[in-house]
Amino acid sequence: MKGIILSGGSGTRLAPLTKVTSKQLLPVYNKPMIFYPLETLLKAGIKDILIIVAPDHPGDYLKLLGSGREFGAKFTYEIQDKPEGLAQAFIIGREFIGEDDVCMILGDNIFEDDFSETIKNFKSGGHVFAKEVGDPERFGVVKFDDNMNAVKIEEKPKAFLSNYAVTGLYLYDNRVVEAAREIKPSARGELEITELHNWYLSKGELKVDIVKGDWIDAGTFESLYKASELARKKVLNNT
Ligand code: TTP
Repeated sequence: MKGIILSGGSGTRLAPLTKVTSKQLLPVYNKPMIFYPLETLLKAGIKDILIIVAPDHPGDYLKLLGSGREFGAKFTYEIQDKPEGLAQAFIIGREFIGEDDVCMILGDNIFEDDFSETIKNFKSGGHVFAKEVGDPERFGVVKFDDNMNAVKIEEKPKAFLSNYAVTGLYLYDNRVVEAAREIKPSARGELEITELHNWYLSKGELKVDIVKGDWIDAGTFESLYKASELARKKVLNNT
């Protein structure tokens, strides 16, 4: 299993904090934001990790994270020239992924849960993680049937579908590389990751689990603040 941390994007919602640095390098209490998703992958035993960054700040990432040796891992870096969508990671990362399965996490997503067992036990298909939220229209949204099987996933639905947002941790088998190449840009000009989920869903091969602990997408002032609060609580409680 290879790992990808997608850490590009523009971070416009956090301006002016993101005017001179990348969102995922901003502090979340006592660490840069990207350390949290990185730890999620490292904890699961993923050691071979591609870090995809925007063209403005590759030097800062290299300075912060280096070769990966310090973390007992190996880091590779790629640049995403424009923020053309989450699914583009599997096009940029094609050679890095090779013949392997892949676990991608977004550089601004902070999870309390430990996904180690799930990641280690992954066999095939697609596996994503949903969380009940108050503002589902900001995310990809999953509709479940009465047995909690996913029946539909829609990106930023206009009409209410459910309160379950798809979070930024994704497990796919190697077919994701081909599936990503088939996607066409959406109306907002992005290769949507929801299309990959639907590719697996249409084959009956998408598993959707519920995230139990806290999940924070630290892309707004409010959520960035909450992320720092959560991290502080954990440091003080030593958990
Ligand atoms: P977003 O938070 O949706 O986008 P953003 O980071 O550009 O922020 P804003 O909307 O405030 O301008 O992105 C979610 C994560 O995915 C974040 O870690 C950035 C990353 N990302 C990329 O690396 N490349 C992309 O093409 C996109 C759309 C996002």
